[in-house]
Amino acid sequence: MMRYSRVKGQGSQGEEADSATYAASTAVFMAEMIKMVLCVIMIRITEPDKRIAYEVFGKPRETLRMVIPSGLYALQNNLLYIALTHLEAATFQVTYQLKILSTAIFSVLLLGRSLSTQQWIALVLLMVGVTLVQMESSGTNDETSDPGAHGKNSIMGLTAVLASCVSSGFSGCYFEKLLKTSRTSMWVRNLQLGVCGATFSFVGMLLADGVAVWQHGMFHGYSLLTWLVVINQALGGLLVATVVKYADNILKGFATSLSILLSGLITFYFFDFSPSPAFLVGATVVILATYLYGRAMKTPTHSSSAPSTAISTVKLH
Ligand code: C5P
Repeated sequence: MMRYSRVKGQGSQGEEADSATYAASTAVFMAEMIKMVLCVIMIRITEPDKRIAYEVFGKPRETLRMVIPSGLYALQNNLLYIALTHLEAATFQVTYQLKILSTAIFSVLLLGRSLSTQQWIALVLLMVGVTLVQMESSGTNDETSDPGAHGKNSIMGLTAVLASCVSSGFSGCYFEKLLKTSRTSMWVRNLQLGVCGATFSFVGMLLADGVAVWQHGMFHGYSLLTWLVVINQALGGLLVATVVKYADNILKGFATSLSILLSGLITFYFFDFSPSPAFLVGATVVILATYLYGRAMKTPTHSSSAPSTAISTVKLH
């Protein structure tokens, strides 16, 4: 949806075409605003006695701890639009799988988690499997039917996607650490994250598209699809936080991979496609990887003093 919303507004005439689409930085900012509204509603429901303004502005140290992940997420969310504008869907989806490994590496470095050899193998298999599955689903999106093929810069796209992988792994694990080592609720943490994120993305919007926003307004080029992308981003962000709180970032990678697989299967069922050999091999590898990882979680290795799921089992409410 994100990519389609970007290329759909572009015609084939270069500059003129570019101005027809919406400014991505405004979409990132709007997603942050929607997330904050949802967090306020959730705090009102789950913790009616909480003084919301105090939680965010009366505890500057706590809010400032969110500066790093929110700044990185704001950057990552903008970089993703750059990557999706400059890369083919297939290239993007394949390279973006590297975040499975970056997340595992940061889980070890930041959370002190130890992964067994079997789990590392499972993670590499997962990356390979999702890549194969994705190749199939994005192979139908060929260059000739893609009006966004004009003015592409693949080096810029690749750099953006690699930076996003590092940011995704680091910010996810940093946020997980904060959630699991303090008593502040998930909604308050997300609101603190949202306030910082909204500030960063507002500055990003002024820097990247300030003139265009001033001239044409913030919602220039918005369609129903743009709003769906923005709402999906906001809800997706809150879902990420929930998954990280009750499970962990590595398991989130497995969940996302299985959801990609599931959406592939649904597509085949509803649109009467038959899966390619790459999809079938990829699907088998993803399921095998998930099984291997899950099995290793149940049997902690003797080589490490802490079980591999140590952090996941710490639940502070
Ligand atoms: O791909 P990845 O899992 O890193 O994407 C995380 C997404 O979730 C980002 O868009 C980020 O802004 C969002 N997020 C959020 N709130 C959190 C954690 C992540 O909105 N607490």
